[in-house]
Amino acid sequence: MLEKAGELAAGLCGFGEGFVKDFLGQTELIWYYGLARAKSRTVRAVFKMSLLIRNGQIVTPTDSYRADIFCQDETIARIGANLSAPPGAEVIDASGQFVFPGFIDPHVHIYLPFMGTYAKDTYPTASKAALCGGTTTLIEMICPSRTDEPLAAFELWKSKAEGQSACDFTFHMGVTRYDPLAESQLREIVKAGIASFKIFLAYKGALGVDDAELFQTLKLAKSLGVITTAHCENADAVALRQKELLAAGKTGPEWHEPSRPESVEALGVHHLMTFAAIHDAHCYIVHTSCEPAVRQALAARMRGNKVWIETLIQYLTLDKTAAELPDFSGSKFVMSPPLRDKRNQPFLWNNVANGLISTVATDHAPFDFKGQKEMGRGDFTKIPNGIPSLEDRVNVLYTTGVKTGKIDLHRFVDAASTQAAKIFGLYPRKGDIHVGADGDLVIFDPNEEAVISAKTHHMNIDYNPFEGMPLHGRVKSVAVRGQIAVKDGKFVGDPARGRLLKREPTHF
Ligand code: URP
Ligand code: ZN
Ligand code: ZN
Repeated sequence: MLEKAGELAAGLCGFGEGFVKDFLGQTELIWYYGLARAKSRTVRAVFKMSLLIRNGQIVTPTDSYRADIFCQDETIARIGANLSAPPGAEVIDASGQFVFPGFIDPHVHIYLPFMGTYAKDTYPTASKAALCGGTTTLIEMICPSRTDEPLAAFELWKSKAEGQSACDFTFHMGVTRYDPLAESQLREIVKAGIASFKIFLAYKGALGVDDAELFQTLKLAKSLGVITTAHCENADAVALRQKELLAAGKTGPEWHEPSRPESVEALGVHHLMTFAAIHDAHCYIVHTSCEPAVRQALAARMRGNKVWIETLIQYLTLDKTAAELPDFSGSKFVMSPPLRDKRNQPFLWNNVANGLISTVATDHAPFDFKGQKEMGRGDFTKIPNGIPSLEDRVNVLYTTGVKTGKIDLHRFVDAASTQAAKIFGLYPRKGDIHVGADGDLVIFDPNEEAVISAKTHHMNIDYNPFEGMPLHGRVKSVAVRGQIAVKDGKFVGDPARGRLLKREPTHF
C-alpha cells in the first residue's frame, strides 16, 4: 500500500480521484481507496495501485478457465468476467495467452563464495533475470563457511538482498557447523522467519557437515518444525575418486561425472534418509540428477520418511556429453551432482509428470567461462561447480516439457511454482491464483518463438548453457504483487520492490 502525507486539496473519501499537495508543495493527482483521515488540514491519503489483466486463460495446478484478474494494490481482489477497473488502473490484454501464478525457484545461489571465487550474479542482476524468465520469488541458499557464525551469515546474505531485489525472496539457512553457539543462533534465525535449513553432505572440509552435525541438525529441525534441504553425495567417495582420476592423468572436465558416479549420489540420499528417520525429520533432497538417487528417496518415502524431491531443468534437458565439449568448453557444464547419462531423463520426466518429483528448480550458480571456469584447466576438481539457468527454467520447461507432451500444463505450474510454495511455507499467499493471494502473475504467450542466447539474457554471466535452444512459447509480461515488472519481455519494474518473505515452520 502506498501512503502519502499531504495537504487536502479535494475531499478524499471512498474510492476515486483527488489531489494531494505534499509538504514540498507539489500537487499530485492520485487514485485512492479508503478514507483519508483529516486532522486539521493535514491528511494521510491512503491510495492503491491497481492492475487489470483481461481475457487471459488462467492456469493453476487444478483449473484452467478464461477470466479477468483485478489486483488492488498488492493482492488479487477479484477474478471474473468483464471486470471493470477504476480510471488510472494499468490494463493488460492477455487474449490468447496463459496467465500463470508467479513462478518460484526454490534453489538459487546469488551471493556465493565458493571454490576460491564468487558466483557472478548480484541481486540487481539476478532478480531482473528471474523476473524476465517468469520467476517472481526465489529462495537463496545462505552458505556460510565453517568458521562463520550463522547469525552473521544471515545478516550478510540479507544485506546483499534487501533494497536490491526486484523480485521477492527468502532463504534456506545453511548449517555448516553445529555447536552450542550455532544452535542458539539457528533458533533465532528460525524465529526471524527462515523456516528451512540447508546442509551439504558433499564438499568435505568446506561446506559439508559430518555425521554428528547431521544428526544434531536434523534433531533441531524436527523440534522447530523446519524442513532440511540437503545436497546428497558421499563426500569421502568423491574425494578418493577425484584423487585416483587425477593421478591417472584424467584431468579434463569430462572426468567430473565419473568422479561422482550415480551410486555415490544414491548413497548420499540413503545416508540422509537413515539419519532423518531417527528423528522423523522432514527433508527435501535438492538437485537429484539420476534414477538411483530418486529411487533411494522413493524407497525411503515408502518406509515412512517425510521426504520431498527436487530435480533441475539442467538434468531434464542436458546430459554428460556436454562436459566432453572440446577446448575446455565442457567446463561450462560442470556442476554437482554432475549432468548424467541421457538414459536417466525419461525416468526423471516421468516422475516430474506423476508428481513423485515435486519441484523443478535451477540451482542457479553462475561462474564465467573466462577467468572462473578456467581456474580448473588441468585439474577438473578446481572448476567452480555450477550451471546458470535462473532466467531460462520456466521457458525451457514449457518448451521441453509441455510442448512435447511430457507434462501437462497443470503439473508445469505445480512443479515450477505451487509445490515450492506449499513445501516451504509460502502457500496460499504465493503459488496459486485466487482472491487474496499476492498479485504475482505471469502472462505467457504460447505462440511466441525465440532462441536462447547469452547475447540477450539478463544474467551476469558470459555464457548460456542453453545457447541456441529454440523456445516455443515464452514469458511475456510479469507482475510482482500487483505491479508490472516485465512488459513484452523487458524489465520495466521497480528494481527495489522485492521483499524478504518471512515463513512460519510447518514441518512438525
Ligand atoms: O554445482 C553446484 N550445484 N553448485 C552450487 C552449489 C551446490 O552444490 O548447490
Ligand atoms: Zn548442491
Ligand atoms: Zn545449490
